[in-house]
Amino acid sequence: MMNNNKNSKILIVDDTPKNIQVLGKTLEQKDYEIIVAQDGLQALKVVEKTLPDLILLDIMMPKMDGFETCKRLKDNPKTKEIPIIFLTAKIEIDDLVKGFDLGAVDYITKPFNSKELLRRVETHLELKRKSESLEWSNQNNRELIHILCHDLTNPIGFIEGVLQLTDQDPFIFQEMKKSLWTAVKNSINIIDQVRKMQALTEGKYELDLNLVPLKLFIQESMEILKPKLIAKNLELVIDIDDHLEVMVERTSFSNSVINNLLTNAIKFSYPNTKIYMSAIHKTDQVTLSIKDEGMGMPKGLLKDLFKMNKSTTRPGTIGEKGTGFGMPLVYRFVNAYGGGIEIFSKEKSHDSKDHGTQVYITLKGGVQ
Ligand SMILES: Nc1ncnc2c1ncn2[C@@H]1O[C@H](COP(=O)(O)OP(=O)(O)OP(=O)(O)O)[C@@H](O)[C@H]1O
Ligand SMILES: [Mg+2]
Repeated sequence: MMNNNKNSKILIVDDTPKNIQVLGKTLEQKDYEIIVAQDGLQALKVVEKTLPDLILLDIMMPKMDGFETCKRLKDNPKTKEIPIIFLTAKIEIDDLVKGFDLGAVDYITKPFNSKELLRRVETHLELKRKSESLEWSNQNNRELIHILCHDLTNPIGFIEGVLQLTDQDPFIFQEMKKSLWTAVKNSINIIDQVRKMQALTEGKYELDLNLVPLKLFIQESMEILKPKLIAKNLELVIDIDDHLEVMVERTSFSNSVINNLLTNAIKFSYPNTKIYMSAIHKTDQVTLSIKDEGMGMPKGLLKDLFKMNKSTTRPGTIGEKGTGFGMPLVYRFVNAYGGGIEIFSKEKSHDSKDHGTQVYITLKGGVQ
């Protein structure tokens, strides 16, 4: 059997030095890293410093027995996923049931048979590895679904809006045709993007980074957000050098990064105010700033802004709704380009004159 679990850390908890020695010797043959503890209390201290991948736990021990130790380990969110195998002299049926009830995955009886020991350890390490990878891919799939649903909302919402207008005035169609095409192309690109990201996580694809003209990109993204700007009578002031280029993946930069940041700036701006976009360039980096004069964010919210599992969503200044996945996606993409993001915000409730949010995105780039 191939050993994928090489270098896994195994904690042996036993009060008999001889047992530790025998177990340790057997496991070291397979390059496992061994940590030892002589009783339950010591084991709890050890795991605070080093998290093992698996625990071999004696049942009969002074101070704290194996059952109590197991219970404590399973009660602690940090250690509850570590597989525990009990070491026992002879299996009493009551003990067996009690151990499984407490969350142990297996038993090994003394005297130890080295082949059996290695097989059981390998099996449980393998199971743990598989369940971690499953959890990771689940999380990843959830994120991809969010991207699909979240980022498709803007272009498809725009198409819906235009179609509603053409019901009232068919001539509008011709006027809006170019923007409709952009929205349709964006939607197709987003779907393509999700496919690519899936391939990316499966190791079948590399993110296609290119230098793109920043101002042009922003102007394109702007197209489908225009109705929202008009609805709130917002002025977008763009001060970006035509020659600045940034290193990004096109589709995600336009549809996820720029679009989400601008949508937020619009959503949390008060009507009749301004949004400023500017960029500065330093050696091989370009920093883009998006600044609004809106309601701002409390500190507690800022802290959780990039987390998928923490909801930070609030309605906009005219009641616009959201899902709260915009910023986590922006963060994910900017990181994937090797860039960084920083946010400063002042709440209106703190200062009724000087308030708003400023987002800085730093990317690799320069002058054309
Ligand atoms: N420019 C901003 N001004 C004030 N608050 C903001 C700004 N940008 C983001 N926030 C706060 O952060 C929250 C999370 O933003 P995010 O873009 O992740 O989600 P959302 O805008 O609520 O929903 P979605 O983007 O899915 O439509 C917002 O609901 C808001 O509370
Ligand atoms: Mg948003």
